[in-house]
This record gives sequence, C-alpha cells and structure tokens, in this order.
Amino acid sequence: MPQQESAPFPLLAIRDISVAFGGIRALDGISFDLERGRILGLIGPNGAGKTTLFNCLSRLYTPTSGDILFEGKSILKRAASRMAEIGIGRTFQNLASFSRLSVRDNIRVGAHCRARTDMLSDGLRLPRMRRAEERINGIVDELIAYLELSSVADLPMAGLPFGTLKRAEMARALAVGPKLLLLDEPAGGLNHDEIGELGRLIRRMRDDRAVTVLLVEHHMNLVMGVSDKVVVLNFGRKICEGDPAGVQSDVEVIRAYLGDGKS
Ligand SMILES: Nc1ncnc2c1ncn2[C@@H]1O[C@H](COP(=O)(O)OP(=O)(O)OP(=O)(O)O)[C@@H](O)[C@H]1O
Ligand SMILES: [Mg+2]
Repeated sequence: MPQQESAPFPLLAIRDISVAFGGIRALDGISFDLERGRILGLIGPNGAGKTTLFNCLSRLYTPTSGDILFEGKSILKRAASRMAEIGIGRTFQNLASFSRLSVRDNIRVGAHCRARTDMLSDGLRLPRMRRAEERINGIVDELIAYLELSSVADLPMAGLPFGTLKRAEMARALAVGPKLLLLDEPAGGLNHDEIGELGRLIRRMRDDRAVTVLLVEHHMNLVMGVSDKVVVLNFGRKICEGDPAGVQSDVEVIRAYLGDGKS
C-alpha cells in the first residue's frame, strides 16, 4: 500500500458539511478524512445522504455550510468540469460513455483532458503537439492492457456486455490520471463473479497506481471486502466510522440497517 504518512494533511477532508433540500437535512454536519492510498466505503440505508455527499464531492451540489478540502485546499469554488485537472476523477452510475464511439476513443476522451494543458501551452508548435498525441496514445494503450480491453478496444461501446462497459468506464476515469477516484455504486448491475472482479480491480488500482478511492456502494460484501475505512450515514448524520469489522459489529449501524424506528 502506498504510504505517505508524512503528508501534512489528508488527501480529502470533509469538514462539517450540511445540505438542506427545503425542510430535509440531507446531510447534517458530516466530517471525515480520507488519507492518501486508502479505500473508503461510504454506506447507509436508503435516503441516508450518500448520493448527496457524492454530488458535493463532484461539485454538482454546494453544501449550505462546511468545507471540502482536497490536498488542503477548498474545492467549493471550483466548477464540476474542472475537477479532473486537480486530480479528482469519477465514474458514473449510468455509464456516461459515448455509446457510438469505440472503447478506445472513450478512453481517449479521458486522456485528452489530462494532456490538455500541454496542448494549450504548446499552441501551434506542431512537434510538441505530436508528442502530446503520442503521450495520449501511450496512456490509452496502457489502460486498454491494464483493464483487459484489448479484444473490444475498437468496437463501439453500444452492445458490449455490462461488465465490459464498467471496465471501459473505469479506464476512462483512470485516463484522467486521478489521485482520488470517486466510484458511484460501481457494483450496480454486475453479477456475483463480476463483483468479485471489481473488488480485486479496486484494490489493484490502489496498490499499483496509487489511486485513493471513495466508494459509495450498497453491496455490503464488496464494501467490507475492499475498504480500509467505512463511514456510515443515516438520516444525513454520520453514525459510525471505522474499519469494516468494527463497523459491522456496531450496535447503531445494525439498528440503522434493521430499521427498528428508533434512529
Ligand atoms: N434533489 C433533491 N431534492 C430534494 N430532496 C432530495 C434531493 N436529493 C436527495 N434528497 C433527499 O435527501 C435525502 C438523502 O438522499 P440521498 O439521495 O443522498 O440518499 P442515499 O443515501 O443516496 O439513498 P439511496 O441509498 O436510496 O440512493 C433523502 O431524504 C432524499 O429524499
Ligand atoms: Mg443514492
């Protein structure tokens, strides 16, 4: 596991954030840290606030109070479209890929975003642009191999099996070169074997690409199997934070999931 314990602040710090929709407090004073090189699972019963928090992180929502710090700096003034360039990547639950483009071209879209700075600063200096293009090709080829997409690389996304689409979506997200990868219910629609594969892939990305992961997921076996730390929300509040074993035996967590009406 990549260790950078000497870093002065966590990669991601959620500081006392609240979000209200009309009278509903979807998030109520949530705080937690995510250290570099760790996998954090965010769970909770339906309506707990998981998607709301995910949407704050990807800047679709702005919290009514509190702050979100990435590498020690607030991201709240940054537009959703400019998160990739600081190193925050995400996957989409309903696969936001361009279905008529090939797998390869979808991954290129992600890689272009990473190389854009080179392109802009190089202006019309063609040899440099060619070098940027070569760099993009290199990133794309490497990810196609890494995610075992070689046999489908030149096929259109439309019509590919769901498990393959999910791997292609992951490759697109990785092409951005994220330090932090936000995964929104990645197990949705996958079968048992594919979920096992996904779990191994998440660990592998962390281990050999130094990607820190925040995983919002309903599938308990996946979350408990891959996470270093689990944060549990219920009715917009954090009710528990700890390692998977501790969280699974926590009385308040058990009560929240069994729904005895007291929480
Ligand atoms: N755009 C919105 N407008 C109004 N209320 C909302 C909105 N989004 C979420 N909520 C409410 O905020 C609360 C938290 O919802 P959220 O979708 O974040 O929960 P969740 O943990 O993702 O649930 P699920 O497991 O069902 O996906 C719920 O009471 C929900 O009804
Ligand atoms: Mg949700």
